[in-house]
Amino acid sequence: MIELKNISITLNDNVILDDVTLSIEMGMNTIILGPSGAGKSSILKIILGLWKPDNGEIIFEGKNVCKMTDDEILQLRKKVGIVFQGNALFDSLTVAENILYFLPDKKKLSENEPKYKIEELLSFVNLSGTENLYPEELSGGMKKRVAIARALAFNPQVILFDEPTTGLDPINTESVLELIEKLKQNGTTSVIVTHILDDAIEVGDNFIVINEGKIVEAGSLEKILRSKNPFVKEFFKRFIEENHNPFIRISKEVNK
Ligand SMILES: Nc1ncnc2c1ncn2[C@@H]1O[C@H](COP(=O)(O)OP(=O)(O)O)[C@@H](O)[C@H]1O
Ligand SMILES: [Mg+2]
Repeated sequence: MIELKNISITLNDNVILDDVTLSIEMGMNTIILGPSGAGKSSILKIILGLWKPDNGEIIFEGKNVCKMTDDEILQLRKKVGIVFQGNALFDSLTVAENILYFLPDKKKLSENEPKYKIEELLSFVNLSGTENLYPEELSGGMKKRVAIARALAFNPQVILFDEPTTGLDPINTESVLELIEKLKQNGTTSVIVTHILDDAIEVGDNFIVINEGKIVEAGSLEKILRSKNPFVKEFFKRFIEENHNPFIRISKEVNK
């Protein structure tokens, strides 16, 4: 379990996160849902340790991250991977080199080991044979899958996805969502930030709704859809209108 307890952070007089308390269950897909500017990416930066909160605690599997030694923090960093919204691939490096850059303990690997590891990772994301291509030669969906392969290079326990399907066509969206499901079957914990309801519902087990730096609702989809919170009701209105009886669809998801 990863827990954020009463996390607050202010940057340049802007309150970015305001008393955020949430928990992420291991082995599950947790969705962080909310409009642009709500603070979703900021939560990922806090989990990744890129930002230190002004107040509050982060508990990773029972241990207080704020009280960890540098060595413990380093070990923790290896357990959490991230797929950035813009993929953050190096344009001047090939697909293989982009992944190689993130392979841990490269020096300890024997000559052909990195090659096999890269092949294995590319096969996992259905991109076999793309080793020598450059990012500019790839479609948006392929770039996203390289970014996922790279995040998987050091075998993290938890992967943070920032808007993984934003800007992708339906086919590529589906392939990314399928990968997230495949990762779950392998025991990986995913935290998926998105503002796209359909995608959230397709892969989500637990949902956290955030607005203006505050958590407004958290729990199962059913709980969220029954929420009396005015913001949550408004946010889900479009979804409920389009899916005339959302509970029929939910029970389908549950029985899948
Ligand atoms: N480095 C920063 N300095 C000051 N304000 C920031 C910084 N990064 C983000 N913000 C602000 O924090 C708020 C939340 O941002 P973010 O977490 O990126 O939102 P989301 O990912 O939900 O769109 C926004 O109002 C944004 O302008
Ligand atoms: Mg964001």
